[in-house]
Amino acid sequence: MEKNAPNTGNSSAPRVLFVASECAPYAKCGGLGDVVASLPKALRTLGVDARVAIPLYDSIDRGKYGLEPESPCLAGAGRGETNGCGVWRGTADGDVPVWFIEHNRFFARGGIYDDHGAEFGDNAFRFGLLCMAAAQVCRDRAWIPDILHVHDWPTAVLPAMMDAWRKNGTPLGRAGSVLTIHNQGYQGYSHASALDYLGLGPEYFAADALESYGKINLLKGGIVFADAITTVSPTYAKEILLEPGGNGLSGFLQRREGDFEGILNGADYEVWNPETDPQIPAVYGANSLIGKGRCKQELQVQMGLKPDASVPLFGIVSRLAAQKGTELMREALPWALNEMQMQIAVLGSGDSDDESFFRWLSQAYPGRVGVEIGYSDELAHRIQAGSDFFLMPSLFEPCGLSQLYALRYGSLPVVHATGGLEDTVEQYNEGEGTGTGFKFYHPDARAFHDTIGWAVSTWYDRPSHITLMREDAMKRRFEWETSARRYVGIYQRVMAKHGA
Ligand code: ADP
Ligand code: GLC
Repeated sequence: MEKNAPNTGNSSAPRVLFVASECAPYAKCGGLGDVVASLPKALRTLGVDARVAIPLYDSIDRGKYGLEPESPCLAGAGRGETNGCGVWRGTADGDVPVWFIEHNRFFARGGIYDDHGAEFGDNAFRFGLLCMAAAQVCRDRAWIPDILHVHDWPTAVLPAMMDAWRKNGTPLGRAGSVLTIHNQGYQGYSHASALDYLGLGPEYFAADALESYGKINLLKGGIVFADAITTVSPTYAKEILLEPGGNGLSGFLQRREGDFEGILNGADYEVWNPETDPQIPAVYGANSLIGKGRCKQELQVQMGLKPDASVPLFGIVSRLAAQKGTELMREALPWALNEMQMQIAVLGSGDSDDESFFRWLSQAYPGRVGVEIGYSDELAHRIQAGSDFFLMPSLFEPCGLSQLYALRYGSLPVVHATGGLEDTVEQYNEGEGTGTGFKFYHPDARAFHDTIGWAVSTWYDRPSHITLMREDAMKRRFEWETSARRYVGIYQRVMAKHGA
């Protein structure tokens, strides 16, 4: 048996290839990278032969991750053109085999999607090549997947390519496709000239295919051509079936309603576990919170906050983008800081105006607001561990993983009740002292401000409720295994459709 085969001993285990733009720890901008790392791992424990293909970005340190070169591939790119790609192999956490597609012209340029906010103009070509190369790698190794599982706009074009390949009789056997939508807000628009490169004829430039406002819309292509479509929480599934959540694509999703469902993401509790986390100053659990006190104290020192156990500390770890409710933060946070005894620790990067706002906030409230602009996995863990509350006022949130981590670390989420935030945070009940967080229902600054106030007053006036909520939050589990079982059901349906 091959070293990395799943633990079934069964050679007929379904073969699933994840084709994606991110996979933690190699390349990650947000939760997509976490999911592409954890879901295949959970699938393998269920006997699925799940593997991953991502680009070899120049930011990926081959030595550090022990990547090994394999034989290169020639990926077809429409018009009979081929592109040579290097192929490297690594094994992510949990023995998930990962193929890295090397093509320096496309992937050795610093960013994953953009250069400091300026989106690369050739993204359809870049990720289109990833899709073609991933398929070629499978063919070259005679490892023909039953399912190609694609994620968001970067790889959503692959189901359309498979449709074209089937017609031309150059298939990946009977492989079917599953598209997971992690964020309907990003759709991947490109000039129609990319179609040729992608090997898609003019018939794909149609309103019931990839065409959208005179351009091609990659996510739309996935919605039209994938055999099954999922998104990452039940509430978000309902939201994107309607406008404005559907961002113009709700009608196309409605046509696929029978093949579409919302499956909640899980959290990887091997990585996010305060009882064993090597990145935090002191470990702790639901029944012994002494370590959490030390984490708070050290975070206060590290972030330039006044060391004071009695003041409630609010954490933020976020991409700084409109989706995350940065407008609400800009209005509500100074307002709350002016009125309430509280501290805030922020880690984030993204929109330059948002970054400037947070730099200003830390200067305007010295000792009360600590800000780190950048990306740091270690600090993300330390903020989760050291904070009492976790702020996530997202305008929309397909699932959200940060609030799942916050719950596990006993940092009570303060959230806008949307998408996965609605599904995973239980509202505080002031009469009973139950719940796991504080939710507001209208995404406006006043509601956010008032809900921060509700959390602060609970901290000072009803500390026993905070203790109860924290204990409950830390015991909640959003296990990948549960979600992975649902994906297996979808794979089986798609395989049956293709006669596998
Ligand atoms: P999204 O994918 O929309 O950004 P999620 O809550 O699903 O939101 O996932 C965010 C993930 O990215 C979490 O793992 C979080 O810790 C991480 N993250 C976000 N911003 C940063 C940052 N600046 N530094 C380190 N990790 C970050
Ligand atoms: C997206 C969403 C986030 C979700 C993540 C993983 O980035 O914004 O809500 O948790 O994907 O599915």
